[in-house]
Parts: sequence; C-alpha cells; structure tokens
Amino acid sequence: MKKIVIASSNEHKILEMKKILSPLNIKVVSAKEVLKKEYEDIEETGTTFIENAKLKAETISQKTKLPTIADDSGFCIKALNNEPGLYSARYAEAQGGYDNTFNILEERLKDKDRDASFVCVIAFARPDKPTEIFEGICNGFVNFPKRGDNGFGYDPIFVPNGMGRTFAELSDDEKCEISHRGLALEKFIEYLKKEEEQEQTK
Ligand code: IMP
Repeated sequence: MKKIVIASSNEHKILEMKKILSPLNIKVVSAKEVLKKEYEDIEETGTTFIENAKLKAETISQKTKLPTIADDSGFCIKALNNEPGLYSARYAEAQGGYDNTFNILEERLKDKDRDASFVCVIAFARPDKPTEIFEGICNGFVNFPKRGDNGFGYDPIFVPNGMGRTFAELSDDEKCEISHRGLALEKFIEYLKKEEEQEQTK
C-alpha cells in the first residue's frame, strides 16, 4: 500500500491522524486533497460509531478506489448516559459552540459523578477487501472551568486519568500517545504490519 486516504473534513482530526501515521512508509492524504471539487461531506446516518465510521470509509474508498480510513469518535459522560457520545459534534453545534456547551454541561453535572471517556472507531475500507474496525478508548473525568488552548472540541474540559492536565494542556505528541484516536490507530498500524509480514511469507 503506497497511499491511504483519510475520510474526514475535520482539520484537527486529519492533523492528528497524519501525525500518528507518519512513521509508516505510506503517503497519507485527506479525501478533500484527492477528490478536490468533487468532495462532499457525508451525512452521518448511523446509530453507532462503527456504522458511521464504516459509512464514511466505504463511501470515500468507493469514490477514490483507494484504501481509506475514517474516524468516528465522541465524548461520553457516564452520569449523562454516555451523552453527548455519537452526537458530540451536533450537540456542541446545537448549543452554539463549545464555550456554551461547557457551561451547559457544568450545570447538568452539578453534584454528579464526573467520569467520562473519549471513544474512537477507525474503519479501514479497501475496494477489494472487507472493511476492518479498530477501537480506542481513553478514560478520565470532566473538569471545569476549561483549561488549555491545544487540540479541539471537548479537549479543554477532559482530564485523562493519571495526567493531571486536560487534553488541551498536552502537547500534540502527548495527546496522540494516550488518546482514543492514538490507541485505535496503534491497533490499525499493528494490523498493517501483520498483513505485510503475511504477504512477504506467501
Ligand atoms: P464525528 O466527526 O462525528 O466523529 O464527531 C466527533 C466529535 O466528537 C468532534 O467534533 C468533537 O466534538 C468530539 N471529539 C472527538 N474526538 C475528540 C478529541 O480528540 N478531542 C475533542 N473532542 C473530540
């Protein structure tokens, strides 16, 4: 495999994924870079992270005829029945942005347990092979007020266990090493290495 496409239009996710995959000897490009004017956002109609990740990866792989990965991810707060979860991006949009969302979550979490996790599902789709799925979870807790300027989304209010700093206070390298996305992509990299070994012994 010489080239792999990332089926996302989220620039932060693309940057993180390119960084994590950089040790591989593979050219990593976004779907927008490949499809240019033909690129269209994909409506996330699935009811699980797996369904949405598969939908995005398979749609772009069919269009580009190239191996494609897609990430579907979300922020799950235990005391809120794992909300906003699958709807994390849409929830923040409906509240008018992340600052409003943090205020609303602080109110909803008054006197409640703060356990939370980030979940990431990576789907790997190819034109000639069944789609593979890789999952990563990063456990921690919600912390108010927000802290830090790095990263994106819910990063300023999430403290991963054992770190004492929010995701937004970590460097890009520190976040990618322990994050849900980093862990799922680590499994994906292991899978590629095993597959390559098998090909070579054929
Ligand atoms: P998706 O594009 O449907 O997968 O939406 C993912 C959404 O989950 C993002 O827009 C963020 O709101 C949230 N999210 C996922 N991963 C992260 C992360 O690493 N940091 C902060 N927020 C994240």
